[in-house]
Amino acid sequence: MKLGVFDSGLGGIMIAKAIRDLLPNIDIVCLGDTMHMPYGNRSEGAIYTHTKAAMEYLFADQDCQLIVMACNTASASALRKLQQEYLPQANPGRRILGVVVPTIEYALDQGHKRIGLIGTNYTVNSNVYEEELQKINPDIEIFQVNTPLLVPLIENDGMEWVEGVLDRYIKPLLDKNIETLILSCTHYACLKDLIRQRYDIDVISQDEIIPIKLQDYLNRHPESMDLLSQNSAEEFYVTDLTDSYVRKAASFFDKGIQLSHVSTDKAA
Ligand code: DGL
Repeated sequence: MKLGVFDSGLGGIMIAKAIRDLLPNIDIVCLGDTMHMPYGNRSEGAIYTHTKAAMEYLFADQDCQLIVMACNTASASALRKLQQEYLPQANPGRRILGVVVPTIEYALDQGHKRIGLIGTNYTVNSNVYEEELQKINPDIEIFQVNTPLLVPLIENDGMEWVEGVLDRYIKPLLDKNIETLILSCTHYACLKDLIRQRYDIDVISQDEIIPIKLQDYLNRHPESMDLLSQNSAEEFYVTDLTDSYVRKAASFFDKGIQLSHVSTDKAA
């Protein structure tokens, strides 16, 4: 059985690459729902429908034992319902891991008390990070800005415009004297070096923490680890395939990869 990595778009490939670097043997299948991206501007109902169809595909057609839901928007919106309602009934014994709680745990482990966050409209407006943070430590303050222009710039080779856009988004957070900035979107991992240098701040980038959290999970859950096949295989699928996606996917994985088209609609 395989490890699934799911994202609304191509950003999940950066998380898959980071997982591959830490866990070189496990077989990974990475799915980007490019047909329905961006999730960040959609309704809860639409995000749930598309995310559930993607889970269904990864479990049924790809035989995934465990799925890392790398997409923050899907984690914020659909994860709890999928874990509580869909999984026990449709795929008992299999698991979906989100990124919100592991990211918060990491921020708190670092001792941060004033946390900034940038994410999609859905992730920020859902307030899921603040809610989860309050459950663990109500004394921590979180300051959030939705940054909807970043994903289109990243996906469309718009890096020459990104600095000005980042300035507008991040300056208000710096004015709040944040101690760290959570990049709460798969795609933002490719901005981490720029943000660290330009604003001289501590940055929490999920490609640096999710693989470690996954490794920790697998160590604590040998029943899952034992089911994962270990042939160092990698497969990459998108629900809509274009030449530009092929180029972008290769740059996100740091080497040429085979990107193939698949439909998840039958599972919706
Ligand atoms: N991948 C999504 C996330 O991590 C952002 C892109 C989108 O809006 O679909 O939130």
